[in-house]
Amino acid sequence: MSNLVVVGTQWGDEGKGKLVDILAEFADMVVRFQGGANAGHTLIVDGEQLITHLIPSGILHPTKRCAIGPAVVVNPETLVEEIETLKQRGVKITPDVLIVSHRAHLVMPYHRALDAARESAKGSKKIGTTLRGIGPCLEDKAARMGIRMSDLLDSEVLAERLAAKLPEVNTLLSHYGQDTVKEKDVVSSLSELANRLGPFVGDVGEAVRQQMERGKNVLFEGAQGTMLDIDHGTYPFVTSSNTSAGAVCPLVGFGPHLIDGVVGVSKAYTTRVGAGPFPTELQDERGEKLREAGGEFGATTGRPRRCGWLDLAALRYAAAVNGLTSLCITKLDVLEGINPIRIGVGYRLDKKELASPPANIRELSRVEPVYEELEGFEGDLGEVRVWDDLPVQAQRYVKHLEQLLNLPVDIVSVGAGRAETIMLQNPYRREKSS
Ligand code: GDP
Ligand code: IMO
Ligand code: MG
Repeated sequence: MSNLVVVGTQWGDEGKGKLVDILAEFADMVVRFQGGANAGHTLIVDGEQLITHLIPSGILHPTKRCAIGPAVVVNPETLVEEIETLKQRGVKITPDVLIVSHRAHLVMPYHRALDAARESAKGSKKIGTTLRGIGPCLEDKAARMGIRMSDLLDSEVLAERLAAKLPEVNTLLSHYGQDTVKEKDVVSSLSELANRLGPFVGDVGEAVRQQMERGKNVLFEGAQGTMLDIDHGTYPFVTSSNTSAGAVCPLVGFGPHLIDGVVGVSKAYTTRVGAGPFPTELQDERGEKLREAGGEFGATTGRPRRCGWLDLAALRYAAAVNGLTSLCITKLDVLEGINPIRIGVGYRLDKKELASPPANIRELSRVEPVYEELEGFEGDLGEVRVWDDLPVQAQRYVKHLEQLLNLPVDIVSVGAGRAETIMLQNPYRREKSS
């Protein structure tokens, strides 16, 4: 396989960062393809933790090229901070290593202000966004009122675009009782950022296509998860982009036949941060226990994550929406000592079995999961490196998932560190199915 896509199959935070760091070893280029700094991808290498928000999680591999694609919404300040943090840690970040698309839209301070103002106005009906300005930035993109990286580097175009946009921004900010913004303040805050980022800006679509033409391996890193996809997720409690695998083609700019595999990442249980339906949520001490054992606090916002049993109705749906070719199951170690373990194998609504999650949000809030129970397992899974050393009940859990989903599990993760991984099959070595 040469070009792989890694996507989250749940509501985000499945461990995509860890998997991308592992698979990057076999890739020549790693590309973030959607979302923005709402993402928080955690890498733990040699005991040191790094959280990436915009920079691809392949960055700790010195010989790989990393790219931030055209459809990623980039807060220039966050990106500069991320580059600085990495440099301070001795990671080489030069324009040879990192390229940022000239087509990427910028998340401006007014997008963040509007995100916060809208959430606050919604009161108890809020989405629970990360407040990173993602929704308002993507609204501007669709309304053709956005400001792109290439505009940042052209002061004339930048002034023109801001002059067209700011009157509307200020009307909205006033509507929400917020301070308005002045064009000269916005421009001056951007000029230093333009100098810093200019050398990294280039044509990512072209760079990716060139790698593909040369037969190189490209790894595409998704953010968020399928149930947060704007079209296929639990709308309106979703993010504002397509998070699913097929989106990578239009979002980066290449043809669908060039994707060779799609690896879905799923925790061995489920978490969700922010509001919205979560059928298998545990609102009791078992949920607390998962949160404690799994360290389930947001990598971007620090918010406690809601926890619950694995939801195969959602996962089966994610497998179909993404066209998954295999799975990576993370955080199996967190289930240690929980007995019995439940798996949601389907949904029931008004005594009827449902084939997939309903689109209607009121119905989705009412579905009842159908559970199966499996025997739990004990032992220090974090020490295990090969399949045969896993407790037999843990093996049974994974095998059962494979059967119920009709999908192979290629990788099982048993700890946050790079080494705490059982690779059953390298997704880069799988044959492409026709
Ligand atoms: P991402 O957004 O999908 O990259 O995931 P996050 O980094 O937001 O959240 C995953 C969390 O689980 C991070 O704190 C990881 O360090 C941690 N993690 C990943 N895999 C494992 C695992 O197998 N076991 C444990 N205990 N932690 C893990
Ligand atoms: P990674 O890539 C988990 C959630 C927010 C909120 C909804 C909309 O780390 O898995 P937004 O700020 O995008 O407008 O928020 O989406 N959300 C995430 N949840 N992991 C993420 O990213 C998320 N990015 C957004 O909590 O419910
Ligand atoms: Mg995350």
